[in-house]
Amino acid sequence: MSASAEDRAHARAGAVIETRALGKVYSPGSEAEVVALRDVDLRIGSGEFVAIMGPSGSGKSTLMNLLGCLDTPSSGTYHCDGIDVATLDAEERAALRLEKIGFVFQGFNLLPRMNALENVAMPMGYANVHREERLSRAREALAAVGLGERASHRPSELSGGQQQRVAIARALINRPPILLADEPTGALDSRTGEEILALFKRLQQENHTVVLITHDPDVARHCDRIFVMRDGRITA
Ligand SMILES: Nc1ncnc2c1ncn2[C@@H]1O[C@H](COP(=O)(O)OP(=O)(O)OP(=O)(O)O)[C@@H](O)[C@H]1O
Ligand SMILES: [Mg+2]
Repeated sequence: MSASAEDRAHARAGAVIETRALGKVYSPGSEAEVVALRDVDLRIGSGEFVAIMGPSGSGKSTLMNLLGCLDTPSSGTYHCDGIDVATLDAEERAALRLEKIGFVFQGFNLLPRMNALENVAMPMGYANVHREERLSRAREALAAVGLGERASHRPSELSGGQQQRVAIARALINRPPILLADEPTGALDSRTGEEILALFKRLQQENHTVVLITHDPDVARHCDRIFVMRDGRITA
């Protein structure tokens, strides 16, 4: 992956996530066309912890999918850690995603037949890391989220908070600078949610950039900045 001089200039300016006039239209030109995102300008610096709030359907997950390079925008630009994502082909985008971004979802998305350690080690399978190295890093990541003792448990043998911590360990396994979380505490009771937030705060102190979608103002107030979305725009 080659970075142009312009890309490096972006990285130097300290923004890990930078979008300009980012837009997304689903099924363009058809009757089912939906303008899900309009003119989103976002600048998030290294080590920031930000929340994205807004009503259902306002475009939060759409934005997150674009930031995570899971989808491509219809208009505008996105620089991820200084790299203009539009210049990458699908394979390069996948490589960028693996290197730069960890995902945490509301439903944890763990594989039920694998134990905690295997779930955490899984994403590195694509990253050409040797199995021994993978398992040892997975063990480290599980210990870092306080689950060292639960490595051989399957998801069904863990509490909701523990499952979410496994998912966070999995998101961290490739040591990505950016962590994207879509309603990570939505399925948890408030105390367990607080524990997960404390974990995100610790990761922020270790210089991870954390972007979290939430409906819950109590969750958002833990963040440095809050973006509010409405009808596909950032309004505050
Ligand atoms: N794959 C898709 N195809 C067509 N329309 C979509 C698709 N995904 C989302 N949309 C539409 O785009 C708009 C934004 O959806 P999005 O999922 O980003 O909202 P959200 O803010 O995450 O909502 P929620 O809080 O309910 O998760 C909605 O009108 C939705 O119906
Ligand atoms: Mg959503």
